[in-house]
Amino acid sequence: MAAEPEFRPGKKIKTTKDRIKQLEELRRKAQAGGGPERVTAQHEKGKLTARERLHLLLDENSFMEIDAFVAHPQFKVLGDGVITGYGTIGGRKVCVYAQDFTVMGGSLGERHAQKICKIIDMAIRMGCPVIGLNDSGGARIQEGVVSLAGYAELFFRNAMASGVVPQITAIMGPCAGGAVYSPALQDFIFMVKHTSFMFLTGPDVIKEVLNEEVTFEELGGALTHATKSGVAHFVASNEIDCINEIKRLLSYLPQNNLEDPPRSKSDDPIDRREERLAEIVPDDPNKPYDMKEVINLIVDRDSFFEVHSLYAPNLIVGFARLGGDVVGIVANQPKEFAGVLDIKSSVKGARFIRFCDAFNIPIITFEDVPGFLPGTSQEWNGIIREGAKLLYAYCEATVPKLCVVTRKSYGGAYCVMSSKHLRSDLNFAWPTAEFAVMGAEGAINIIYRKKLKEARNPEKLRKKLIEEYKRDYLHPYLAASRGYVDDVIDPRETRERLIYGLRLLRGKVDQRPKRKHGNMPL
Ligand code: HXC
Repeated sequence: MAAEPEFRPGKKIKTTKDRIKQLEELRRKAQAGGGPERVTAQHEKGKLTARERLHLLLDENSFMEIDAFVAHPQFKVLGDGVITGYGTIGGRKVCVYAQDFTVMGGSLGERHAQKICKIIDMAIRMGCPVIGLNDSGGARIQEGVVSLAGYAELFFRNAMASGVVPQITAIMGPCAGGAVYSPALQDFIFMVKHTSFMFLTGPDVIKEVLNEEVTFEELGGALTHATKSGVAHFVASNEIDCINEIKRLLSYLPQNNLEDPPRSKSDDPIDRREERLAEIVPDDPNKPYDMKEVINLIVDRDSFFEVHSLYAPNLIVGFARLGGDVVGIVANQPKEFAGVLDIKSSVKGARFIRFCDAFNIPIITFEDVPGFLPGTSQEWNGIIREGAKLLYAYCEATVPKLCVVTRKSYGGAYCVMSSKHLRSDLNFAWPTAEFAVMGAEGAINIIYRKKLKEARNPEKLRKKLIEEYKRDYLHPYLAASRGYVDDVIDPRETRERLIYGLRLLRGKVDQRPKRKHGNMPL
């Protein structure tokens, strides 16, 4: 193997001044990346360089680079295709890495991997988020198994950092092969429309093996992963938007699992009552309404930040502030498939709840759910196992849990959505809430099947029985009489009740039996 890059002083270097000059030259060389031609090519693709991205991401003059002189003995490129270091965002420290596509396509070799691992190790020790900006052709082919080993080391670091410090990753170019698994092990993935791709095997291999034609964009573009696979949590229209959204996300997160999320002062009155909340739930229980409107009317103004907005829209998840406190919101969306729970929404909710629980973010659930989606497709694809993930995540979460039932709370979904029985701390119901095993029509058809068959006028009887069922079951007071909800509240009071609830629950302690880890139904 060739020697390490030449760092030894040459003949001309005699004085300290010479040495400083040499340092400056080396630094310039390291900062040049793959050189002006490759930088131009990067810009022509509509992409920024790794350094330009870091400049936009971090507070001005806060970036401190480390390992700029790391180089592979064979390739001798200073930095080895990745820039690593630390700095601040909004005054809070972060560790960062940005792959430099202008150097060997940002491919990951031994030294490149070591640099990323080192900065993640540092983030874990210092207790600060780590942000990765990915732009890479994957495992550096010329380094063979050594580059694969580098990836495996990186995956281990991601798994160790999981639940300790937030890990945020942005895909800002290609991300192929095993390279996708480091992002997949992190908490949030951002993608940029048209310039970022993620896939295990590219279109050429797919054509060869399966004879299927697919474009890069269809296979692994930002919209594909935001809508179909759910791999991407956020889609940005360009890199600047992407970086701004990363900063916004960070503003809701604590630095690590031992800290609380940042509390801010809110000038939105705690007792703000919104008249619209008294009329938002339609009188007809089959009519939809927009749960996002409910959320936005209740949380601090303009504070709702949706996660995974394009995936499984029947369940809404995101961060918000209530009286200045950060909360995680999980909400059924009656406007999309009647807010039913299915495989995708269950997994989406479970993952978000586990993130909130790991990072001390209280969970507020807004519930209006007719049940789980029936059908062979759901059953054969494992709704039993996938739905159990959501159930498990709610059971496991020990952060403050609050729930507001706005309308339907039917069947298994009653149990799942932050019910009292899963140790939710404060459960409120609006007067429009309906707690039942199922809706009126379905229930009557089952329990009165025989009676309806024998009736002289079955339609008249059905109507009467439905009315009786609604009167007897579809209200919140049976649940309230058992203490399954802590109070039935005027919808206009919801904001105030939630804020005081959150304040009550600050410092909540919930001990669980000791174990290595549970066996979540994966
Ligand atoms: C070494 C690489 C490279 C790689 C790209 N380059 N990928 N060098 N190892 N994996 C180099 C190219 O040779 C080229 O160098 C420069 O980067 C830019 O690449 P281009 O192909 O010119 O760029 P572009 O047309 O934009 O295409 C980008 C790309 C393509 C789509 C990423 O390069 C590509 O398909 N690369 C291979 C992707 C891949 O199959 N990776 C391995 C996956 S397997 P020059 O000097 O010519 O400019 C894997 C296993 C990991 O990752 C398993 C872990 C569990």
